[in-house]
Amino acid sequence: MPGPAKMAKTQWPEDIGIIAMEIYFPSQYVDQSELEDFDGISKGKYTIGLGQSKMGFCSDREDINSLSLTVVQMLMEKNKIPYSQVGHLGVGTETIIDKSKSVKSVVMQLFEDSGNTNIEGVDTTNACYGGTAALFNAINWIESSSWDGRYALVVAADIAVYATGNARCTGGAGAVAMLIGTNAPLVFDRGVRGIHMQHVYDFYKPDLSSEYPVVDGKLSVKCYQHAVDKCYEHYSTKAQSAGFKHGPRLLDAADAFIFHSPYCKLVQKSCARLLFNDLLREHSPDYNDRYRGLEEYKELKFEDSYFNRDAEKAFMSACDPIFQQKTKPSLLLANQVGNMYTPSVYGGLASFIVHSTVEDLAGKRLVLFSYGSGLASSMFSIKVTDNVAHDSALHKVYENLSDIPFKLGNRIKIPPVEFDKIMKLREETHNAAPYTPTGSVDHLFPGTWYLTSIDNMHRRKYERKPSQSIVNGDVAVNCASMPRNSSLVRCSLIMCSCDNDILFKL
Ligand code: ACO
Repeated sequence: MPGPAKMAKTQWPEDIGIIAMEIYFPSQYVDQSELEDFDGISKGKYTIGLGQSKMGFCSDREDINSLSLTVVQMLMEKNKIPYSQVGHLGVGTETIIDKSKSVKSVVMQLFEDSGNTNIEGVDTTNACYGGTAALFNAINWIESSSWDGRYALVVAADIAVYATGNARCTGGAGAVAMLIGTNAPLVFDRGVRGIHMQHVYDFYKPDLSSEYPVVDGKLSVKCYQHAVDKCYEHYSTKAQSAGFKHGPRLLDAADAFIFHSPYCKLVQKSCARLLFNDLLREHSPDYNDRYRGLEEYKELKFEDSYFNRDAEKAFMSACDPIFQQKTKPSLLLANQVGNMYTPSVYGGLASFIVHSTVEDLAGKRLVLFSYGSGLASSMFSIKVTDNVAHDSALHKVYENLSDIPFKLGNRIKIPPVEFDKIMKLREETHNAAPYTPTGSVDHLFPGTWYLTSIDNMHRRKYERKPSQSIVNGDVAVNCASMPRNSSLVRCSLIMCSCDNDILFKL
């Protein structure tokens, strides 16, 4: 057998990474505190126990195709990218409405006017990991002999819904689009991906007639944390070989740890697990002094650690300053929208970016953890450019994302009883054909694609809400695409009902 091929690293294109990014989430949500009352469970379980404030959800007007169409068109419009400039498009999703036709093929409608059909890539699926697989495909395409110099577009989109019961409050919905290219402001580190893949039935969707997964909740939590440990180990080893100067204290050295977020409390616990991992590896006296009180856990076996309450509490407390600084800023969308599945970790990246200033972001190393049940997981990292010039690509990424808090504040709150009815309707009409959706389109954000009909051959038709409309002679501003400091946004605040309660405690 021939050995592994060696490639001169100089052949790779420079600085492959994120050139532009767009996030879409539904314009309606249910309040988690109100849901606690409605579900009749003990007060504080969803909000404090799981760390969730609001959950975005879709009516029967939105499906995986409409979410993907919306986020792609918004990204292309905001960044004025010609459709002809995309050479690879992959969609990561676990929201399967067709076992054969890809979501990517539906998104190709947007490219029709440009005449560009020369676009590689289809869909990738493994629970919440499909988006990361699509991202890695995109990066690999640019590093390959197939690359023709154009951009790759990555879409991660999902509607996360659970049957009534204890998992329902951990739903959510959303979509992320990322334009990948060379000389990017957010550069993926090469050769450091830490991977952990395993066969396990923690969360899966064997019933193809239902949107709902089969979930072994406790097992999924354990699998997630085990994957954090394994990926961190592999990532740390590779990062050390790649010459990152962190030694065994990666938690100290990197600037952000951004996790896939099923719910925020699990992310807080997982950040603390990184400290547990570092502590087992680090033996220097100053480190032991700093974490005095944790010595007793140095003998703790990984297997025994996952549901050890005392250890969990001790590490969460010791890790809290790091969590507050390096992870909590990434949880805005997770807390306010819920688990978006494939987009979740990238929603975390966007949240971290908008929480900072461009100057703060410059030169930072951001470590990401992606997890999909079943299971597939990875830890990888991004180095932010040092170029903070006013016309820099970093500024552009930042500006494009900076409307997130505004959009969050401009959603409408739906009472749990209505939310429950909408979930029932989705349940009863899932896969129905012919079908005409009944949900209102009035409150969809401008520029949102929505489903208008499904014919008796299951063919779906969509329309788009105008991105600008005339109301009483005034221009109603496209709330979904305005930077938050724009004067137009200030004018739209008067017209739209606004709920700016987007602070949360963890
Ligand atoms: N006030 C404050 N905290 C409370 C209260 C209260 N009144 N009641 C309960 N809590 C706490 C509990 O102590 C617990 O905290 P802990 O985890 O620190 O012990 C937390 O709230 C959750 O309570 P549990 O009883 O453990 O919750 P339950 O077993 O009902 O379900 C679970 C939680 C398993 C996450 C469920 O929602 C689920 O199955 N979700 C979907 C699966 C999932 O998200 N898995 C994660 C990885 S896989 C993925 O991404 C899909």
